[in-house]
Amino acid sequence: MSQYIFFSGKGGVGKTTMASATAIHYAIEGKKTLIVTTDPASNLADVFEQEIGHKITPINNVGVIHESPLLFAMEINPDEATKEYKERIVGPFREIMPEDVIATIEEQLSGACTTEVASFDRFIDFMEADDYDVIVFDTAPTGHTIRLLELPVDWSKHIEESVKGGGQTCLGPVQAMQESKDKYDRATALLRDTEKTTFIFVMRPEELSLYETLRASRELETIGIKSGEIIINGILPEEVCEVEFFRKKYESQQKVIKETERVIQKPKRYMFLRDTEAKGIEALKDVAEELFGKVKSQE
Ligand SMILES: Nc1ncnc2c1ncn2[C@@H]1O[C@H](COP(=O)(O)OP(=O)(O)O)[C@@H](O)[C@H]1O
Ligand SMILES: [Mg+2]
Repeated sequence: MSQYIFFSGKGGVGKTTMASATAIHYAIEGKKTLIVTTDPASNLADVFEQEIGHKITPINNVGVIHESPLLFAMEINPDEATKEYKERIVGPFREIMPEDVIATIEEQLSGACTTEVASFDRFIDFMEADDYDVIVFDTAPTGHTIRLLELPVDWSKHIEESVKGGGQTCLGPVQAMQESKDKYDRATALLRDTEKTTFIFVMRPEELSLYETLRASRELETIGIKSGEIIINGILPEEVCEVEFFRKKYESQQKVIKETERVIQKPKRYMFLRDTEAKGIEALKDVAEELFGKVKSQE
């Protein structure tokens, strides 16, 4: 079992559902588990049917040991994360630098780049804190995830160059960045450590979804992450496909499933389409049972 599990895939394929079911599974097993989402349009609160937000929130009625809850959730709010990040960078300079210098630094920290960095920074904090047995990351749709993961690689280079040039960066003053470089390097190492981190690609049994998954998995390979697993979600059960329309759909799904097995050499899990939405703890427990009962390794 990995300590960090990342879910990625296009919008609507079932990332949040699979990530939540996975988190529930580990909490029920007695592991202290955190599920974090970096999706600005997170719906974790809807799925767990309780308020969450930009703070670590215990989830009721899942795993409990000695009356302490085992499952926690947090929805990273990019604006909040940016505020926290800015303060962390600027804070130490407040006492020792003139106001106009502080203002300049603050201004440099208001670009889109800072927002991206801030969410990732928050996310690395979780990876380094060691407070949980398992951390499940429910990420934003694919492109964004890869971007997020490329960041530490980019960053390290960026910081190195700025240090050489003696300049400022949109990450903040170079002085403040040097220690961060070590941090991002450690995070990159963790992401590439296949013992510690697993990337799970969620896809539908559809051709376009397969292409997307292939692209995403290749993209990850380019930044040195080769492992990972696939969840094929939303498979029609054969017995409900007697009508021509569904029969066709079934056949086309099966074709894609075979093709996926042929072209992607990663362990796979298979998830049937359900007749109800997977919403609420009880439904998710059910999904978790189906998910963890069925793993077909190809390695
Ligand atoms: N196997 C399934 N059977 C039925 N509904 C599903 C299944 N997997 C996901 N869903 C539903 O599909 C919708 C999208 O799922 P979600 O997990 O939110 O996707 P994502 O996070 O990738 O955007 C939700 O309404 C969810 O309940
Ligand atoms: Mg989602």
